[in-house]
Amino acid sequence: MIAIGSDHGGFELKKEVMAHLDARGLEYKDFGTYSDASCDYPVYGKAVAKAVASGECERGIIICGTGIGMAITANKFKGIRAAVGHDIFSAERSVLSNNCNVICFGERVIGKELAKKILGQWIGLTFKDGSSTPKVQEIRDIETENMR
Ligand code: RB5
Repeated sequence: MIAIGSDHGGFELKKEVMAHLDARGLEYKDFGTYSDASCDYPVYGKAVAKAVASGECERGIIICGTGIGMAITANKFKGIRAAVGHDIFSAERSVLSNNCNVICFGERVIGKELAKKILGQWIGLTFKDGSSTPKVQEIRDIETENMR
């Protein structure tokens, strides 16, 4: 199950992404927002991050105007590794090098076709143990030190 959310700045792209997930037969849960009315992005970044951090969902997609506010919000949660993924290479490395479990998009930055292409690739990738494992473990150690 994929958790998805946006603020008003990402609302149109979220609809496109959900249609893409539907077309691919991928299950998702929409954590809002549910209209294009102005709202506060941390509310929706938090909802998606909590769903992933708790294990309710395996991965998250969060969309705002730039993707930045959502990434900052999501990374405040223990166990969340979120990155803005506006190009294929970075999105791919976010999983393979950093074991990211949340991808963030900015509707005001990226076109819908590129977002869907990136997502199509990102969803199929999984982190594999190797030279990146100790580095991701160091991130976990920092979380243990700094987060309750
Ligand atoms: C709009 O409120 C805009 O600030 C938001 O969508 C996002 O880009 C924040 O990072």
